[in-house]
Amino acid sequence: MRALRVRHLAQPREALELVREEPVPTPAEGQLVVRVRACPVNFPDVLMCAGEYQVRPEPPFTPGVELCGEVVETAAGVDGLSPGDRVIGAGAVPHGGFAEYALMDAARTFHAPPELSDAEAASLFIGYQTGWFGLHRRAGLRPGETLLVHAASGGVGSAAVQLGKAAGATVVGVVGGADKARVARELGADVVVDRHTEDFVGVVKDLTSGAGADVVYDPVGGEAYERSTKCVAFEGRILVIGFASGRIPTPGLNHALIKNYSIVGLHWGLYNERDPRAVREAHRDLCRMAQEGKISPLVSERVTLDELTEAAQRVADGHTVGRVVYTNE
Ligand SMILES: NC(=O)c1ccc[n+]([C@@H]2O[C@H](COP(=O)([O-])OP(=O)(O)OC[C@H]3O[C@@H](n4cnc5c(N)ncnc54)[C@H](OP(=O)(O)O)[C@@H]3O)[C@@H](O)[C@H]2O)c1
Repeated sequence: MRALRVRHLAQPREALELVREEPVPTPAEGQLVVRVRACPVNFPDVLMCAGEYQVRPEPPFTPGVELCGEVVETAAGVDGLSPGDRVIGAGAVPHGGFAEYALMDAARTFHAPPELSDAEAASLFIGYQTGWFGLHRRAGLRPGETLLVHAASGGVGSAAVQLGKAAGATVVGVVGGADKARVARELGADVVVDRHTEDFVGVVKDLTSGAGADVVYDPVGGEAYERSTKCVAFEGRILVIGFASGRIPTPGLNHALIKNYSIVGLHWGLYNERDPRAVREAHRDLCRMAQEGKISPLVSERVTLDELTEAAQRVADGHTVGRVVYTNE
């Protein structure tokens, strides 16, 4: 089979190599082999290429942390999934979805919602699960509250905008550039701030008559986090989702005390180990919302395996919106 493999740790353009005669991987107990139908590029894939993600596989390995696939073979210990099933879930790196065939762990594999295309179904997993756990379980977002989303046209950001609207929040989206601003508006954000030309702190304060944002969804870190503390509401919750800016903030905890806000961490992947039942519940809820048209994954580009390295580099450089998806549709 053909696959992209990381030969040495670097940015995607230097790290990824197209291998043409790779053996189809063999599943261990509890795993399945799938023919990859679609695999989005996630920021964790590009971090993994550079050895900067919390999971650090040894090269050579194939990234691709979420995918939609057709089951080809199941090993012992896999219940409820059969060859031919169309599934979504986590790619089991080192044999992830940047390939013609991939491995998945049965515990992180779900039937794909039939309403969605392969690329959309693949994109319903990490970004939406993270949004669902962040907004509902960790931050307890309530209808009528104000939600501030950074990188609002990006992968996890676009999901958070849609889930925030579905939950009855007023959503302020922060993006980098006019094209991304248009996308964030189309996703349903009530107010959109282009961080290149406008300060979101003033916009949030004006919108809320000085009260501030009740929930901040922050996949960016650095200045986005630091400025958010200037416009978070009394009893607000700042969700620490990621550090796409490359800078991990070091907040002064006295500020959280003085203003009565919470800094709430989220590592969604841990729920697969600690509370897999909740992940299944979230999947059911997300499928229902997709069926009712309340959420709809934004697939901005479909690329081939040959084009995937350049696409991953564009994600690393922060130049993409929604999900860029390698697809065999
Ligand atoms: N906590 C969890 O469980 C969890 C789960 C999934 C993902 N994540 C994290 O969420 C973050 C976003 O992931 P994603 O796949 O959805 O990526 P993404 O949002 O599609 O891409 C990152 C976005 O961050 C913004 N950004 C700001 N400064 C940047 C910089 N210096 N370089 C690159 N981008 C920059 C850009 O949007 P603007 O230009 O619009 O600002 C860019 O489009 C990542 O840090 C990822 O690790 C966390």
